[in-house]
Amino acid sequence: MRTPLVAANWKMHKTVQEAQAFLQVFRGLTEDVTGVDIVIAPPFTALTAVVAGVQGSSIAVAGQDAYWQAEGAFTGAISPSLLAHTGATHVILGHSERRNLFGDTDESVNKKMSAAIAFGLTPIFCVGETLEERDRGEALVVLTRQIRRGLDGLSGEQVASLVVAYEPIWAIGTGHNATVDQAGNAHAHIRGILRERFDTGAAESCRILYGGSVKPGNVREIVAQPEIDGALVGGASLDPKSFFEIVAGGRATTV
Ligand code: 13P
Repeated sequence: MRTPLVAANWKMHKTVQEAQAFLQVFRGLTEDVTGVDIVIAPPFTALTAVVAGVQGSSIAVAGQDAYWQAEGAFTGAISPSLLAHTGATHVILGHSERRNLFGDTDESVNKKMSAAIAFGLTPIFCVGETLEERDRGEALVVLTRQIRRGLDGLSGEQVASLVVAYEPIWAIGTGHNATVDQAGNAHAHIRGILRERFDTGAAESCRILYGGSVKPGNVREIVAQPEIDGALVGGASLDPKSFFEIVAGGRATTV
C-alpha cells in the first residue's frame, strides 16, 4: 500500500524568517498527524533553515531543481550533491515552470533525474500537458513522451521509489483544477506507462501526485481517486493553516 504524500512547492516565496514563522505554526498543527508523508520545497536560500526547523519531525525537505553535474564552473546552478549536503532528501525536477521559463527539456530533465538519484535524492518528477495539447486531444501522448524520455535509463527499482507529479499546466495557479475524471484518467495512464515500461512492482510502488490549484476545499475529492496518491501544492501551501488542512485532507481519504 502506498503512503499518501503531500508536498509544498513554495516556488520563489519566503525569506528565512518567513519560512521559520511558517514552521512554528505548521509543526504545532501537524504534531499528531500520521498516515501521510509531508515534504516542503523552499527556495534554495531557505533550505538550511527549513532543514533545521523540521528537526525532530518526519517532515522532509526538497530542493526545487538541481543541475546534473556534481560540481564545477556552473554559475547559478545547484548540484544534487550540494542539495543533499543541506539535509534535503527530495528534489522537484521537470516542473513546468522550469520547462517553460528556464529551458528544461525531456532530455535535460532525464539527466537531472539520473544525477539526483545517484546522489541519493528522491526526485518528484513533474509532467503535464498545456491547454492547447489537451484541446487537440494530445494530453496522453504528451504524458507518454515526457515519462518515457524523462525516465529513460532508470531501473524498475529506481522508479519504484520515485514520486511522479501530474500537473496539467492549465491548472497551475489558475484556480481551475482538473476534474476528478480528468485527473483520474491521467493518473491511470501514467501508471499504465510505468507498468509497460518498467514492471508492475515499480508501477504499483511509485507514488503519483496531482498538482494544480489544490486547496483545502478540493483535496479530498482529488485524493479519493484510487490512482492519486497525494498532492503537490503551490499557492495554498504558503499559509500554514491552509497547507495543514490539505495535509489532513490528503491523509483522510487516500486508501
Ligand atoms: P498551484 O497549487 O498554485 O496551482 O501550483 C501548483 C504547482 O505548480 C505545484 O508545483
